[in-house]
Amino acid sequence: MSHSPDILTDGFGRRHTYLRISVTERCNLRCTYCMPAEGIELRPREEMLTFEEIVRLARLFVSEGITKIRLTGGEPLIRRDIEELTRRLAKIEGIEALAITTNGLVLPRKLDALQKAGITHFNISLDTLRPERFRDITLRGGFETVIEAIEMTAASGYDPVKINCVVQRGFNEDEITDFVAWTEHMPLEIRFIEYMPFGGNEWADSLFISYSEMLDTIRSSYPTLQRLVNGPNDTSKTYAVPGYRGRIGFISSMSEHFCASCNRLRITADGNLKVCLFGSNEISLRDAIRSGATDDELRPLIAAAVSRKKASHDGMYEISRSDNRPMILIGG
Ligand code: 5AD
Ligand code: SF4
Repeated sequence: MSHSPDILTDGFGRRHTYLRISVTERCNLRCTYCMPAEGIELRPREEMLTFEEIVRLARLFVSEGITKIRLTGGEPLIRRDIEELTRRLAKIEGIEALAITTNGLVLPRKLDALQKAGITHFNISLDTLRPERFRDITLRGGFETVIEAIEMTAASGYDPVKINCVVQRGFNEDEITDFVAWTEHMPLEIRFIEYMPFGGNEWADSLFISYSEMLDTIRSSYPTLQRLVNGPNDTSKTYAVPGYRGRIGFISSMSEHFCASCNRLRITADGNLKVCLFGSNEISLRDAIRSGATDDELRPLIAAAVSRKKASHDGMYEISRSDNRPMILIGG
């Protein structure tokens, strides 16, 4: 074969082993931090990658060093036949982890099939433990279903079940310690996420809470909170209350970015390779595939995109003024 040995290593020596694939731009919630209030225009289905295209790209990336794939969206579980896609991806030789990030709304119906199909890790989004607030944040109902999804997933042996909790000042910051209390008996990892600016969301400095402020809040109720050791590419700083079943983590993308150890690449639902969550630098793998590119022709395209990856993303004020896509179109 003619390809260079390490097309997924960038100019800063970062080896990319983790690929996030968005399988749909659609969602059954309308989280205010994720999509513009006016909604997003749904693009025609033909513009989305087919299962064949997704599996082909996944195989190619795995053959180049990817070991972990995460399915995202939109809401990945509303892509028709997601179990079938999962089954096909899980069979690719070299995949060590096949994760999914979901809002949990249809998970109670699909958990069993997804587990059998080979999902190894679940991240479930939940920003509040209060039903009326859930409605304010997501502009839809379904709180009880999400709780049921989390309990079922934990009962099915996933340990930990990761819970994504985006923290916003004046919205849910008063629930941080309630979330910590939830880890006493449950195999959960609550991941408190700093609110990030994206195209079309209502990000404002006044809504932003840094991880160190969240940590102070928790420490005042849980002074024994302990830092756990993290792996080399972990994006979250992990802590636990001694004796508690679960743990917590902070994703400090804004106040203390982890760009230096970033090992992730993304493919959007319409088939663009995106080397950084906060960069508008994208190339269309879909167009290349549909114009007949072979794997040997795709490799240099991928290598070129990866080599253009910047050392780190801009600060949050610059990002808030840039023209990145809305989060729902990138894939959490
Ligand atoms: N800031 C931080 N996290 C976000 N997500 C979506 N929008 C934002 C944002 N503006 C994350 C949430 C959700 C996942 C799909 O994407 O954690 O759980
Ligand atoms: Fe949907 Fe997740 Fe975005 Fe909420 S955060 S609108 S659940 S994709």
